Amino acid sequence: MYRKLLLILVAALLLQPLAKADEGMWIPMLLKKYNIERMQELGFKLTAEDVYSVNEACLKDAVVIFGRGCTGELISDKGLIVTNHHCGYGQIQYHSSVENDYLTNGFWAMSQDEELVNPGLSVTFLKRMDDVTERVLEGVNDDMETAERKKVIDANIKAIKEEAIKDTHYKAVLKPFFQGNQYFLFINEVFTDVRLVGAPPSAIGKFGGDTDNWMWPRHTGDFSMFRIYANKDNEPADYSKDNVPYQPAQHFPVSLKGVNEGDFTMVFGYPGSTYQYVPSYHLEMLTETVNPKLIDVRTQKLGIMNRYQGADPAVRIKYAAKNARISNSWKRWIGENRGLEILDAINKKQQYEADFTAWAKAQKPEYADLLTKYKAIYKDYTNYNLTYGYYREMIPSNGMEIAYLANQMNALKDIYTAKELNEEAAQKLKEKLTERVELFFKNYYEPIDMELSVKLLTMYAENIDAAFQPDVYASINGKYKGNVAKYVDYVFGKSIFDDKAAVLAFINEFSAKSLKKLEKDPAYHLNESFAAVYKDKVYPQLKKFKLQLSALDKDYMAAQMQFKADKVFYPDANFTLRVSYGQVKGYTARDAVEYKHFTTLEGIMEKDNPDIYDYRVPAKLKELYKTKDYGRYEVDGTVPVCFVATNHTTGGNSGSPVLNADGHLIGINFDRAWEGVMSDLMYNPEQCRNISLDMRYVLFIVDKMAGAGYLLDEMTIVE
Ligand code: ARG
Ligand code: ASP
Repeated sequence: MYRKLLLILVAALLLQPLAKADEGMWIPMLLKKYNIERMQELGFKLTAEDVYSVNEACLKDAVVIFGRGCTGELISDKGLIVTNHHCGYGQIQYHSSVENDYLTNGFWAMSQDEELVNPGLSVTFLKRMDDVTERVLEGVNDDMETAERKKVIDANIKAIKEEAIKDTHYKAVLKPFFQGNQYFLFINEVFTDVRLVGAPPSAIGKFGGDTDNWMWPRHTGDFSMFRIYANKDNEPADYSKDNVPYQPAQHFPVSLKGVNEGDFTMVFGYPGSTYQYVPSYHLEMLTETVNPKLIDVRTQKLGIMNRYQGADPAVRIKYAAKNARISNSWKRWIGENRGLEILDAINKKQQYEADFTAWAKAQKPEYADLLTKYKAIYKDYTNYNLTYGYYREMIPSNGMEIAYLANQMNALKDIYTAKELNEEAAQKLKEKLTERVELFFKNYYEPIDMELSVKLLTMYAENIDAAFQPDVYASINGKYKGNVAKYVDYVFGKSIFDDKAAVLAFINEFSAKSLKKLEKDPAYHLNESFAAVYKDKVYPQLKKFKLQLSALDKDYMAAQMQFKADKVFYPDANFTLRVSYGQVKGYTARDAVEYKHFTTLEGIMEKDNPDIYDYRVPAKLKELYKTKDYGRYEVDGTVPVCFVATNHTTGGNSGSPVLNADGHLIGINFDRAWEGVMSDLMYNPEQCRNISLDMRYVLFIVDKMAGAGYLLDEMTIVE
């Protein structure tokens, strides 16, 4: 009897659709092989070819890389695209001035001639992808040294790319997958005339600001719209008034049907980087050393900036973008550490590694010492990696600002120390630098930079090994008797780099004779002394470790795929087009705290607080709320704003289309929820959630608030 019952139970379990975690960022070309069945089981009604096909128009033709690090999607047959507000932020800021403050007030072109041109902005379409592993590895053998192997591979890659785009206007990108065990070629088409169509005010597009960033429940209307222009043949062309709106092969219908808990969703975009297959030593490095130290520096930076920004609205604007940039990774690192700890991630990895090594000893002895080798590398690599991270925090990554500005002069130095002076190049560079200096001082406040410099110089000395201390510390400790503030006073007192007029004149009049003055400048010297440590002591060693690690990573990846031979692996994100799929789903955040899967306009009104900058609701939105003028975007007496789902996403997925079972656009991806931000390293199906903006809120804002309803006429709207 029991046996029979057991059999029935087992059979029932087997028949049930596997309620497995839908972790993964999958290769569109391989959906047919690995994913489409599971996607359809979750409700997806389209085929693998509908998503990705080489010969037929398909969903991939409506997805673009937006700028350098985001995703966007086509929503009309006239080249209209939508992405996040934070992805279009640079462009919106670029067009903003005190008179036309689009950041604060929003911007909407009321016709195509009012759209704004964006120098430097491009969007990239994927035409096709191919597995080129065999050709990339031609001439490579197992006995080769890593460096030699790399040389052969690099030469093959160059040849494959050249051949692939010969006599076309396409661009070729070739990337390693599975840590160099597989290679794919991507043929792209890049459009460079992309105009700003509209953006909501920051009080909508950035509502909640850094307070709500990486958090659920969320109420950010994080979107902006652009239009792609092409020449008369519908091909890429640089800006010209004769260009016409691009006609895409495909655009997404926008669905007003919304989402229910359990609904199928898929995210189709460009996830940047993940580290799913690293050894436990990597997690130890991050959680015990690198993250805590970098979190500390940024906490100090933000403390200083917030204090000055809170005291003066002009300073708040100047440092808005810098503050957001520093804060974004700072907050993510904190969440990452927290998430990994709660998941007991290091122990889990260690257990897995013990099993792996036992398996290898029995079955594949050549892999048996992989983890020992990792251990040896991470022992020293950790410290170099930290020093590199800290160096970036000191100068290039929003560190000491005038030192970084002084660093820009090295380009001039190169030209004026060359054997022959290239006058034309010098002139061009001077113009470029002049522009940069203007921008630099537009967003500069000296008291912040001075206080930051004192803090950073003090922290570096305390946190980084004596072996990596730059020579400036000799004078700080000698001449200034360890008084960092005194040294900083001297730098700012003597350097020209805190004085806009002086820097502009210096650049303008730059000649070979200026080199002496440059080298004597203390801000320049400060930068050079840190750069020298990096160049001479950190970088060469780091490069060696990276080479060793890349060889190990390749073997360990291949070995893991043999160890778990019946598991389907997805490759780490590498900023190539991927499909993530899952279900709309709330989650349990912690004991007794359950989150719903969606937010509404009610939540915006609850957060409204004129005293808190991040929570100021625009008057027009309040008015719409009062009169309940919601039109067809209304659901149960309110308007839906955001929703969460189980799609596995990361940085770069911002702006990605979120599609329903019919392949219609229901949302725009823009973030992840706090409890799950460790998903770049380890995914937890219980708590990892991507956050999307509901398309009904997007259309509500465009239609009712911006009064740009004419844009809706060119969309395909499914009610
Ligand atoms: N966390 C999101 C992402 O990583 C949004 C970042 C922009 N917003 C911000 N407040 N910094 O890109
Ligand atoms: N906010 C991220 C982005 O800009 C998305 C994420 O990390 O989830 O790409």
